[in-house]
Amino acid sequence: MRIGIIGAGQLGQMLALAGHPLALQFRFLDSSGDAPGARVAPIVVGAFDDLSALRRLAGEVDLVTYEFENVPVAALHEMAAKRPCFPPVEALRVSQDRVLEKEMFGRLGIPTPPYRAVDSRTDLDAAVAALGFPCVLKTRRLGYDGRGQRVLKRRSDVGPAWEALGSVPLILEGFVRFEREVSIVGARSTRGETRAYPVVANMHREGILRVTVAPARAPRLQRAAEGYLRCVLDHFDYAGVLTIEFFVEGGRLVANEMAPRVHNSGHWTIEGAATSQFENHLRAILGLPLGDTRAVGHSAMVNYIGRMPDRARVLALAGAHHHDYGKAARAGRKLGHCTVVARTAAERDALLARLVRLVPR
Ligand SMILES: Nc1ncnc2c1ncn2[C@@H]1O[C@H](COP(=O)(O)OP(=O)(O)O)[C@@H](O)[C@H]1O
Ligand SMILES: [Mg+2]
Repeated sequence: MRIGIIGAGQLGQMLALAGHPLALQFRFLDSSGDAPGARVAPIVVGAFDDLSALRRLAGEVDLVTYEFENVPVAALHEMAAKRPCFPPVEALRVSQDRVLEKEMFGRLGIPTPPYRAVDSRTDLDAAVAALGFPCVLKTRRLGYDGRGQRVLKRRSDVGPAWEALGSVPLILEGFVRFEREVSIVGARSTRGETRAYPVVANMHREGILRVTVAPARAPRLQRAAEGYLRCVLDHFDYAGVLTIEFFVEGGRLVANEMAPRVHNSGHWTIEGAATSQFENHLRAILGLPLGDTRAVGHSAMVNYIGRMPDRARVLALAGAHHHDYGKAARAGRKLGHCTVVARTAAERDALLARLVRLVPR
């Protein structure tokens, strides 16, 4: 069985690594021949909308998945006509547009921050009047790691934010004064079996995920998050792993966004759960029984952003699992991560504090 993965970044690399024990083979499609996945499986080099490259990939594999949510929907339709393709194209289409995503959450009864679609300066002024300050202006499409967004605190922020972002369709969201941010990662198989991982707590800085603590110790949130996750999975007749990011505001979940793929806040599952999100994604799209999603201890994951830490010092920490994606260093770029796993939450917290001191900020 050979699986095609659109995108050969670190998520694709970790998917292929998880598939090796299952005797699965992989081919990537990526515009760069030396993307992280190249170390694990061959890359068909081409843009995501390069029809001849897509055809080549389809010709070499039995099944197609993706690790990147900005794959053009038309390209995926092209693929889906030739080979089974999961997660479903409709989930990808909705996840690519923050307004469609929030409309979908709303229809399913999942709370979101207040929002308005913004297509003109007049729309923006009306949206600001409706939502008040502070609020967050974001591009509807193609944003990631906090790119393409501005927090508006006062009237004088509106003009410059419009100048910076206004050339594309936007969304204005009310600013959520959250107690914390959490996410849930889960899988649904082509046979309809569903499993969810424990809810995890996420810390962001400058819009980029820095630390995930798993599990988040949130029994009440777990039930609600799992309910919302199942609702979205069933809505799309989904197959694969899906992630929903939430704000916790006044003790209740407010959905921020979803990702129809394996997710950075699920990296801890490689060492910290009975079955990793990457293996469960593969099991799900192949219609195999899903693996146990329970945490095997208490974990924390720290992203390496912009600069790598001293490897020997990280490896000297007992319980630390170092992952280097092999990427060139660049400010704001995710270069690797480390997961610490311990028997108790207190031991985990102590290990996390030691790890954080080794990671350049
Ligand atoms: N409406 C909001 N209120 C408060 N904080 C927000 C809001 N939207 C985004 N943020 C902050 O910015 C981070 C990144 O925003 P997000 O919408 O998740 O975009 P991305 O696609 O870049 O991850 C969030 O995790 C959160 O910390
Ligand atoms: Mg996000």
